[in-house]
Amino acid sequence: MGGARDVGWVAAGLVLGAGACYCIYRLTRGQQRGSGGRWLRPSRSAEDLTSDSCDDVLNAEQLQKLLYLLESTDDPVIMERALVTLGNNAAFSANQAVIRELGGIPIVGDKINNPNHSIKEKALNALNNLSVNVENQIKIKVYIKQICEDVFSGPLNSAVQLAGLRVLTNMTVTNDHQHMLKSYITDLFQVLLTGNGNTKVQVLKLLLNLSENPAMTEGLLSAQVDSSFLSLYDGHVAQEILLRVLTLFQNINNCLRMEGQLATQPPFSKGSLFFLLYGEECAQKMRALVYHHDVDVKEKALTIIPKF
Ligand SMILES: *[C@@H]1O[C@H](CO)[C@@H](O)[C@H](O)[C@H]1NC(C)=O
Ligand SMILES: *[C@@H]1O[C@H](CO)[C@@H](O)[C@H](O)[C@H]1NC(C)=O
Ligand SMILES: *[C@@H]1O[C@H](CO)[C@@H](O)[C@H](O)[C@H]1NC(C)=O
Ligand SMILES: *[C@@H]1O[C@H](CO)[C@@H](O)[C@H](O)[C@H]1NC(C)=O
Repeated sequence: MGGARDVGWVAAGLVLGAGACYCIYRLTRGQQRGSGGRWLRPSRSAEDLTSDSCDDVLNAEQLQKLLYLLESTDDPVIMERALVTLGNNAAFSANQAVIRELGGIPIVGDKINNPNHSIKEKALNALNNLSVNVENQIKIKVYIKQICEDVFSGPLNSAVQLAGLRVLTNMTVTNDHQHMLKSYITDLFQVLLTGNGNTKVQVLKLLLNLSENPAMTEGLLSAQVDSSFLSLYDGHVAQEILLRVLTLFQNINNCLRMEGQLATQPPFSKGSLFFLLYGEECAQKMRALVYHHDVDVKEKALTIIPKF
């Protein structure tokens, strides 16, 4: 830890001063404790930064200092706090633009490469809040590949995996960047089938976005999907999952109808989603769901049945 850099952090904290920036001030004091203890203070917990006094909205100058801090620190605790504060500030649409204009997106984006999973997760959360902005999405899309790697190679149901899936979901609310996920569709289904309930719901939100886009239909239908996928259409499956897998089927049907492709014999191989959805086993499940106790499930099954 360089002493000169510590002084820089102290300066950042002091210049920020009172009020809204108290949290950054405390953040720099935390660093002093961590790097030598010359200015030893009463213990400050990491929660300080997420406490009420830190929910204040920072102005552009303060955000710039925070970004500088994030860029220059090696201390994981400070890095994490700075990312959380930035993420909270990025919940405000004006700040989403300010952070982009200050060059903040690559500074946050670089942190998703951090080997520390706690940092990675906080960086993904901050990117997620920043991604609710079309211009920001253009800058965030360069991280899609890296995020996919983390989502599909990391531990199943982990905080990083969920955070990554949330960013990918927000990045697919429009059709603009969906094509970047084409080569990961099989992986998405794999996570859908193996993940827990939360993970399944998050993957389905993403798949639902893709399924509304006719340009993604062929990619979805040609994906190799394990036949256990069909068990998601069993009557006892949780509503929040069952309704979503039915909507997925409905969306794909709508796209095929739009494209007028259902009549032609598509070039889908055995083991593909196409074979699962349009096979006899799935037809049986749809016929059974017509008698489901939930009205929404029933109605969706009824709109799907005539396609067989
Ligand atoms: C990762 O970062 C967290 C939070 O800042 C920190 O507490 C933890 O010690 C770090 N882990 C490693 C292995 O560096
Ligand atoms: C992201 O924004 C939401 C509000 O939309 C906020 O509740 C959340 O704390 C923010 N968090 C992070 C870490 O990005
Ligand atoms: C983006 O993600 C956050 C957190 O998951 C969510 O609250 C928000 O509604 C999403 N935005 C859009 C436009 O989907
Ligand atoms: C994607 O899903 C979100 C909700 O999860 C929704 O608001 C948005 O309209 C969807 N976008 C597309 C293109 O389907």
